[in-house]
Amino acid sequence: MPLDRPDPVSPAPSARPRRVFVLGATGTIGRATVRALQRRGHEVVCFVRPQTGADSVPWPEGVERRFGTVTDPASLARDGFGGEPFDALVSCLASRTGVPGDAWAVDHRAHVDALEAARRAGVSQVVLLSAICVQKPVLAFQHAKLAFEKVLVESGLAWSIVRPTAFFKSLSGQVERVRRGRPFLVFGDGTLTACKPIGDDDLAEYIADCLDDSSRQNRILPIGGPGEAITPRRQGEALFALLGRPARFRSVPVAMLDAIVAVLGGAGRVLPALAAKAELARIGRYYATESMLVLDPATGRYDAAATPQTGTQTLFEHYARLLRGEAVAERGDHAVF
Ligand SMILES: NC(=O)c1ccc[n+]([C@@H]2O[C@H](COP(=O)([O-])OP(=O)(O)OC[C@H]3O[C@@H](n4cnc5c(N)ncnc54)[C@H](OP(=O)(O)O)[C@@H]3O)[C@@H](O)[C@H]2O)c1
Repeated sequence: MPLDRPDPVSPAPSARPRRVFVLGATGTIGRATVRALQRRGHEVVCFVRPQTGADSVPWPEGVERRFGTVTDPASLARDGFGGEPFDALVSCLASRTGVPGDAWAVDHRAHVDALEAARRAGVSQVVLLSAICVQKPVLAFQHAKLAFEKVLVESGLAWSIVRPTAFFKSLSGQVERVRRGRPFLVFGDGTLTACKPIGDDDLAEYIADCLDDSSRQNRILPIGGPGEAITPRRQGEALFALLGRPARFRSVPVAMLDAIVAVLGGAGRVLPALAAKAELARIGRYYATESMLVLDPATGRYDAAATPQTGTQTLFEHYARLLRGEAVAERGDHAVF
């Protein structure tokens, strides 16, 4: 669990504080979003599952936590909304694995059910954390997310679909190995992809502001962090520079991932247990070869200049904090290294 960053400068309180029902409040962005909503003076009620993250997460005072099963519509209504009125639904809920069964149950079905329960509770506005990668859907979890995005867009409620680029946790998996003297691993020459990393609190502020900013309503919102797009090679160079050491890279061929995907994909057709591993390998290959930037549909190319940015937190500041022990690396579920 990362040590939380000191609160960013307090935003202005919302002109219209609301009663907000939050899903995914124990996740990386969910935790930050709860804080951001609270800072704006909203009344925040979180619906979490009892058996996992909830108990290990320090819970902010004044934020109500309700326990139940998000994948069970009866529990959502009874243990979650509880027959009470709410103004808005904010969801940072997402499958932790991305494998097909979990993705369709969580990223799609649970959201469809939550939307219905929210509507019955009087909710008129929904903010959904999605992902920029759904613009080029290949993987099961991307299709599941898109299927719910469509339901939300057609719901008749006010909606904001936030599609961020890469989170810091997904780009920090090698900090410890490099600190211990190992080379930084890259696919190809380390410039196959690029992204504009976004900090947890910066993204949370952006999500929370969707409630009040009408220009962010009924819109799909790709969003990255400040500064130029960064390649994996640049990440490695920055890390070595922070350590005061010459940069050392080891190149891994994408063909190796292709071979793993092919072998697991074939075996997964016979042994169902391997089908999930095959999907995880496909997810790894996707992130090794696709940039997390706005895709220009006309050219089929990723466009850093067209990728909007927000906030002040940078990945390299985050690396520095990790190296100083002021933050603890939280492993990105789909990080390859
Ligand atoms: N990682 C990246 O770089 C990146 C970049 C862009 C977009 N995204 C998108 O951001 C979203 C994930 O954000 P994140 O990293 O904050 O997520 P996360 O840390 O993995 O948190 C997921 C949240 O969903 C909850 N959840 C998952 N399955 C559940 C279930 N079956 N029942 C109840 N709760 C469940 C988790 O609860 P528990 O704590 O109980 O497990 C947790 O609160 C995804 O949509 C992802 O595609 C990620």
